[in-house]
Amino acid sequence: MRNKPGRVCPVERAGALDNKIRRWFQNPEKILGPYLKTGMTVLDFGCGPGFFTLDMAWMVGDSGRVIASDLQQGMLDRVARKIQGTDLENRITLHQCEKNRINLAEPIDFFFSFYVVHEVPDQEALFREIHSMLKPGGKVFIAEPPVHVSSKAFHQTIDIAQETGLRLVERPGVFLSKTAVLIKDS
Ligand SMILES: C[S@@+](CC[C@H](N)C(=O)[O-])C[C@H]1O[C@@H](n2cnc3c(N)ncnc32)[C@H](O)[C@@H]1O
Repeated sequence: MRNKPGRVCPVERAGALDNKIRRWFQNPEKILGPYLKTGMTVLDFGCGPGFFTLDMAWMVGDSGRVIASDLQQGMLDRVARKIQGTDLENRITLHQCEKNRINLAEPIDFFFSFYVVHEVPDQEALFREIHSMLKPGGKVFIAEPPVHVSSKAFHQTIDIAQETGLRLVERPGVFLSKTAVLIKDS
C-alpha cells in the first residue's frame, strides 16, 4: 500500500523502528560511516525515536553536533529519554519542526532523512529549505521505503531536489531502501 503524503508514522510504532534486529540489516554506522566526520553539524530530519541519532552523535564526536528534528513531540521525548544523563546530551539538540518548515537558522554539513520524505506534504518547499540550510559542499542523504514509495515517486522526489539546485552524486545500497545522496555544489 502506498503512503499518502502527510500521513505520519504514529509514535505508537516507534518500537518497530528502534530495536536491535533492525541494526542487523540497517546498521547506522555502516550507512553513515562514509559521510560523517568529527566536528560536523548534522541534521537527523524526522529522527523518530532516534534509531540513527545516537550513532550520529558518536560519529561527529565532542566537537560536532546532531540536531534531531521531528514533527511529533512524542518522538523527541523518546530520544530525550535515551540520552538523559549521558555525554550525548551535549551533542544532541532536539528540535520540533512544522509540517512544511524545519525552521532552523544554523548552517549544516549533512542532512539525513530516513523513511521520512514521503510523509512530507510539500517536498518542493522541503528541498528549497534544505538547500538554503546546507553549507557549500554539504550533502543530503535520503532513504525511502520501497513498500510505500514507488520507483516513479522516488524519481520525482530526486527531480524536485535537483530542481532546487542539489546534484545527485550517489545511489548507495541500503537494505529495504531506495536511496539518493545529493550535494550542494556552491
Ligand atoms: C517512519 S518514521 C522514521 C523515523 C527514523 N528516521 C527512522 O528511520 O527510524 C518517520 C518520522 O518522520 C516524522 N515526520 C513525518 N513528517 C514530518 C515532517 N513534515 N517534518 C518532520 N518530521 C516528520 C514522523 O514524525 C516520524 O517520526
